[in-house]
Amino acid sequence: MCGIVGMVGREDVVPYLMEGLKRLEYRGYDSAGVAVPGPEELQSRRAVGRLAALEQKLLSSPLSATCGIGHTRWATHGEPSERNSHPHMDAAKNLAVVHNGIIENYLELKDTLIEAGVGFLSDTDTEVLTHHIARKTADGDFLDGFRAALGDARGAYALGVIHRGEPGVVYAARLGSPLIVGRGPAGLFIASDVPAILPHVDQVIYLKDGELARLSETGIEVFSLDGTPQSAEWVKVDLEDHAADAAGFETFMLKEIHEQPRVIRGLLEKYVPGGKEIHLPDLSMSDEVLRGIERIMIVSCGTAYYAAMYGRLLIEKFTGIPVETDLGSEFRYRDPKIAKNTLVIAVSQSGETADTLASIKMARGAGCPVLSICNVAGSSLVRESDHIIYTRAGPEIGVASTKAFTAQLTAFALFTLHAGKVRGELRAAENAVLLRELQDIPNGIHYVLGREDEIREVAGKHHEGPSALYLGRRFNYPMALEGALKNKEISYQHAEGYAAGEMKHGPIALINEYLPVICICTETEDEVAEKMISNMREVDARGGRIIAIATQGDTRVDGLAEDVIHVPRARECFSPLINVVALQLLAYYAAQARGTDIDKPRNLAKSVTVE
Ligand code: G6P
Repeated sequence: MCGIVGMVGREDVVPYLMEGLKRLEYRGYDSAGVAVPGPEELQSRRAVGRLAALEQKLLSSPLSATCGIGHTRWATHGEPSERNSHPHMDAAKNLAVVHNGIIENYLELKDTLIEAGVGFLSDTDTEVLTHHIARKTADGDFLDGFRAALGDARGAYALGVIHRGEPGVVYAARLGSPLIVGRGPAGLFIASDVPAILPHVDQVIYLKDGELARLSETGIEVFSLDGTPQSAEWVKVDLEDHAADAAGFETFMLKEIHEQPRVIRGLLEKYVPGGKEIHLPDLSMSDEVLRGIERIMIVSCGTAYYAAMYGRLLIEKFTGIPVETDLGSEFRYRDPKIAKNTLVIAVSQSGETADTLASIKMARGAGCPVLSICNVAGSSLVRESDHIIYTRAGPEIGVASTKAFTAQLTAFALFTLHAGKVRGELRAAENAVLLRELQDIPNGIHYVLGREDEIREVAGKHHEGPSALYLGRRFNYPMALEGALKNKEISYQHAEGYAAGEMKHGPIALINEYLPVICICTETEDEVAEKMISNMREVDARGGRIIAIATQGDTRVDGLAEDVIHVPRARECFSPLINVVALQLLAYYAAQARGTDIDKPRNLAKSVTVE
């Protein structure tokens, strides 16, 4: 999603802005630009496509200044094009604006501006806001006019603004979209997230909704929308939390897939310090509160939603609490029946997903306690939550989520075992056995990673068709959905995930000798495995090409599947953590064979901060 960077420096800021934009690339974008004060008017350079195009423009037509703003745009209003890319300026080039978010009443504001004779060069809501700010700040104090203009805007924004009247100053404002301010030896910064400016700052302020900041050579001032100065809290940047490089892997995604055994082991060591007792330090939920929960509602988006579906199965099985799941974008617009003793769990890698955030605000409004399972300390979600379980996966740069997902599954497992014990649903001995089996999962993942070459070969055979079907049951049904999602996200091959028992009710019509059907049929303790095998026979009878994910030594799939990816034996409720890694690699190598941009798939954004 759009990325913002801005700087007030002691030397030329343009190289810093470009570096910041590069570090924001992982969020997904389709055009980029920078603006700085010039000798007379403000100056900008903008280009469609990758940052290399903008770099070319800056080479042939350089910019240099000690203050400036930059942006990577992910199109919402208007196609990806140079005229729609940011920064936007007013006609007199007095003001330049970069924006992340959506101004919902932009058409209303636009009508008023058109009546006043303002002309428009783009299709964007940001240009409308730019002209509106320019008008409001034309006379008088800039900050007062800026505040007034923001008061008229409805929707969500993170903004970086420069203007001709104060050539060494950057203004920032935030409502609903994340924005931070940072300081370091080279100067002062604004950015959408810490990684963008990581090498250059030691301390940051996470701006709150409704706050504005003014960065100048004398320092940083923070105000509320009504102009009252705010005492913002400086937070030390923890390098370990944010540092990321591909460490010799060909992509961040492949590196992140390989990090999973380490991430999960680390999570288990952190939250099960002596190896036997679960201790979740940021959960901060008394046993009494935990016993009083009558219902759980899990809300999330994208991959995190499939983690939620898994969490539901696990919590219901071992704690006796009824659980529902919903997508953030659906939950916030329905009339959910939630009350004080409903625990609302939000799952999010970034902690900035707009629909998830809006959902928990709603839940809090209804008086529900909110637990976040989140990867980013200091994120908006974490700050809005009463209880937190950090997934501690480290920065995830590949747009398609991998290690954050398996860390979410692990967090659900730990919460479940803890809650099951506190609520008396899980006996100590059973709990200990489950925990031991969970602690063995990183070894299982390791084993799958060791079969990478085999999985690459399988992917190489099946990536060419127009579509693929993924089937699973019970705990592995959400993994079928996640496997299909991974495939379409990065390889662009259409893929559908289905509950295997539902196949007869529709997708069976798709089956022919060209359709790869990926069947997760690892062993279970009861009849579910048999049912899965029957579903595979139905596919086989219609000539479908089966790729089975099966337990080592299980011969039932022999003769049924064209290809088998063997995984080690694991209890069904933890098997998804292993099985999904095989699916991630399958998608990865399908994408590689199809030649896509794996870390930055087209049209996708890492963190979706608009509705
Ligand atoms: C985007 C990302 C997905 C992610 C989803 C939810 O669509 O591309 O990978 O699963 O947002 O993000 P969150 O940060 O809330 O987990």
